[in-house]
Amino acid sequence: MLNFLRMTDEEVFKAVMCELGRQRNGLELIASENFTSIAVLEAMGTVLTNKYAEGLPGKRYYGGCECVDIVEDLARERVKKLFGAQHANVQPHSGTQANLAVYFALLNPGDTYMGMRLDQGGHLSHGSQVTVSGKWFNVIHYGVRKDTETIDYDEVLDMAKKNKPKLIVAGASAYPRIIDFEKFSQIAKEVGAFLMVDMAHIAGLIATGFHPSPVPYADVVTSTTHKTLRGPRSGFILCKEELKDKIDKSVFPGNQGGPLMHIIAAKAVAFKEAMTPGFKKYAEQIVKNAKALAETLNSRGLRLVSGGTDNHLILIDMRASNISGKDAEALFAKIGITVNKNSIPFDPEPPWKASGIRIGTPALTTRGMKEAEMIEIGNIMSDALDFRDDEQKLDELKKRVSELCLNFPLYPELDR
Ligand SMILES: Cc1ncc(COP(=O)(O)O)c(C=O)c1O
Repeated sequence: MLNFLRMTDEEVFKAVMCELGRQRNGLELIASENFTSIAVLEAMGTVLTNKYAEGLPGKRYYGGCECVDIVEDLARERVKKLFGAQHANVQPHSGTQANLAVYFALLNPGDTYMGMRLDQGGHLSHGSQVTVSGKWFNVIHYGVRKDTETIDYDEVLDMAKKNKPKLIVAGASAYPRIIDFEKFSQIAKEVGAFLMVDMAHIAGLIATGFHPSPVPYADVVTSTTHKTLRGPRSGFILCKEELKDKIDKSVFPGNQGGPLMHIIAAKAVAFKEAMTPGFKKYAEQIVKNAKALAETLNSRGLRLVSGGTDNHLILIDMRASNISGKDAEALFAKIGITVNKNSIPFDPEPPWKASGIRIGTPALTTRGMKEAEMIEIGNIMSDALDFRDDEQKLDELKKRVSELCLNFPLYPELDR
C-alpha cells in the first residue's frame, strides 16, 4: 500500500500509517467523523487533482474539461436525486465554505441574520464573532429552553419579529433532537426571511428518511459530506431553482477558486453509495445504536442533555459525574475511546474546559457494531468514570476496547 509515497517521503508515509493504526485501534465516538469506503478513498487519490476547472460543467474558464465535466455532472445529478432538490452546487470545499457562499449570495455586509448559539448547539459558521460569518453581519442568536434543552421555537419567532432578519439559519453541531424545519419555515415566511438549513451532521439520516428533510421547506440547504453521509471531507449546497444563479456565482468566483475535482469525484461516489439499500440500513443502525448507547449511559446514572437522542448524537452533562468535559475527554483517551469535550446549554465553564462531552455513532456503525456493542461501550465508559483513579481497572477497560476493535476490523482491504 502507498508504495510510491513510502519511497518518496517516508516521514509523511509513517504519519499516514500512524493515523491508520490510530483509527483501527481505538473507538471513534466523535459525532462528526466517519470512515469512507475504499472507493471514496480511491477517487480522492486520482489524477483529477491535476485539473483546473473554474466555472461549471459546459461553461469553464479552462480548456480540457470534458472529463471532469462528466464527474461534476454525475455529482450534481446524484445529490439532487438523493435529496429531491431542484438545484445543486457541489463545489464548496467544506461546510463552512458552503455557508459563507450562501451568506454572501443572499445578504449584504451588515445585514441581519439569525442562527443558533454556538454554546447551545450551533456551529462557528452560524455567526460566531471569531469568524467572517459573525464579523461581517449582524447576527442574532437563538437557543434552547432551559427546562427541556430543546430549541425554543417561540423564542425564535419572537426574535424574528423583533429583529426582522433577512435570513434564518437552522441546523446544529451538537443537538441530539429532531429539528422541526416546517416550523422554521413558517417563522421565516411570517417575517419575510430566507430559510437556510445547515444539515451537515444529519445529511445521511435525511437522505435515508431517518430525519425529516428540510428540502421542501428551505430556500437553501447546505451540508458537509463527511459526517453521517460518509463521503470525503467537503461540502455542497442545494437550493430552489430561482436562487441557482446567485448561489453558483457566490461559490465561484465569489468565495472560491478552482474546484477540487478529485474531491468532487469522491462526492459523486459517496452520493451513489448513499442511494443503496445498504446505506439505508446503515443509517437506521446509526440511530438504533445511538439509542442503545444513550439508554445504557442513562441507566448508569449519566445525565444526557435533553434526556436522550433522536439522531446519531448524544451530549453528556459531565457535571453529574463530577468531572469537566476536558478531563473526561482525557480519561476516555487513556482507554482508547476518542470523544470531544463540548459546551452544554447554559454551561458555566468556558469552551476550552466545557461541562460536557459529545459522542456519536456514525463511525462505529460503519465498523459494523450494533446494539450489543453499544451497551458494552456505554458500560466501559461508565466504568471508566467510576474507577477513574484505579489504573489497573483502566487497563482492563482498555483491553475490552482493544477486543472490540479486533472484532470489528477497519479497512482490512488495505492490507491485501
Ligand atoms: C452544522 C455544521 N455546519 C458546518 C460545519 C463545518 O464544516 P467544515 O468543517 O467542513 O467547514 C460543521 C462541522 O462540524 C457543522 O457541524
